[in-house]
Amino acid sequence: MDTLGKTITCLAAIAWKTNSSLSLEEVQVEPPKAGEVRIKMISTGICGSDDHAIKGIIPLKYPFIPGHEGAGLVESIGEGVSSVKPGDKVLTLIVPQCRECSACLNPKGNFCEKQDILPSSGLMLDGTSRFTCKGEKIYHSFRTSTFSEYTVVPEISVVKIDAAAPMDKICVISCEVPTGYGAAVHSAKVTPGSTCVVFGLGGIGSAIVMGCKASGASRIIGVDINEEKFPRARALGVTDCLNPSNLKKPVQEAVKEMTGISVDFAFEAIGLAETMVAAWDSCHVSHGVCIITGVSPPNSKFSLSAQTVSTGRTLKGVCLGGVLGNRTVWSSHT
Ligand SMILES: NC(=O)c1ccc[n+]([C@@H]2O[C@H](COP(=O)([O-])OP(=O)(O)OC[C@H]3O[C@@H](n4cnc5c(N)ncnc54)[C@H](O)[C@@H]3O)[C@@H](O)[C@H]2O)c1
Ligand SMILES: [Zn+2]
Ligand SMILES: [Zn+2]
Repeated sequence: MDTLGKTITCLAAIAWKTNSSLSLEEVQVEPPKAGEVRIKMISTGICGSDDHAIKGIIPLKYPFIPGHEGAGLVESIGEGVSSVKPGDKVLTLIVPQCRECSACLNPKGNFCEKQDILPSSGLMLDGTSRFTCKGEKIYHSFRTSTFSEYTVVPEISVVKIDAAAPMDKICVISCEVPTGYGAAVHSAKVTPGSTCVVFGLGGIGSAIVMGCKASGASRIIGVDINEEKFPRARALGVTDCLNPSNLKKPVQEAVKEMTGISVDFAFEAIGLAETMVAAWDSCHVSHGVCIITGVSPPNSKFSLSAQTVSTGRTLKGVCLGGVLGNRTVWSSHT
């Protein structure tokens, strides 16, 4: 291939400073170093976490190339890379799987120590960047930076997919779908006939709804301040939609009234302390399970009435639906 071993000049979207519009720029993308993979991106999704990064809610170093939900073709590989080869169809992984660290060696979690989200260095594992623009160093986001025609990622941040995968759609399997679906099926383990509430009906919330429905939930209450999200939510399985802005009482009170007592499973997919507390308060006092998927700003804190904790309900956070990137736990649920 004529790009092999050469720096590639291509287009990428750059966030130059906090909360600015992205600008499309010509960037230089260096060849992959040892243990790295250069990918020709075919499609990328836009996840709430990219929005958080651009707004500084997830603090990243500027200027950076956003994006982590990507599907592409391997253009070239660095020394020692063995899991993918040029031409392979791949997805990028915002949470890598090094298979060696304390998180990877424990089957109960997936937040690999080699992740670059919280905190973020904006650099590859060797502490350098592969991107420049007009001679200036450009930082990576989450070691994925999929808003670029070409990107370089560590081998542990890439997974090979089926050669027949539809590349225009498969990018959402990179984050939003496993995050939400896995939160319901894998982390909460929603049971048939149960009641659920989902706070936030964006990409993650929609996939949570799909997971609740697939698990046989009898009632799924969807909560969002944007009613344009309601038709799609209903099509995916939401049985009742609530807009907290139109209620004269706290949304958790409305959920309790609608269900007679409260729900078996509550999910937060927004990233706000107040909706996390509302999700907790919506859960059954004895056996309720509250799952937090939303990512909140760095100094954000929430407090719960201490008395509501000792009665038995569970509060859990979950990253990428508890899915183990390139390992096999996910396959037992599909
Ligand atoms: N834990 C993980 O592994 C993981 C993975 C991906 C994304 N996330 C996080 O999940 C969250 C959601 O991501 P997304 O991609 O679905 O975002 P999104 O922007 O598509 O959806 C968020 C939804 O929340 C709604 N909303 C905003 N404020 C609200 C309020 N006060 N009350 C009710 N609804 C409100 C919005 O209208 C929108 O529909 C983000 O915080 C993101 O960072 C976490
Ligand atoms: Zn994401
Ligand atoms: Zn690891």
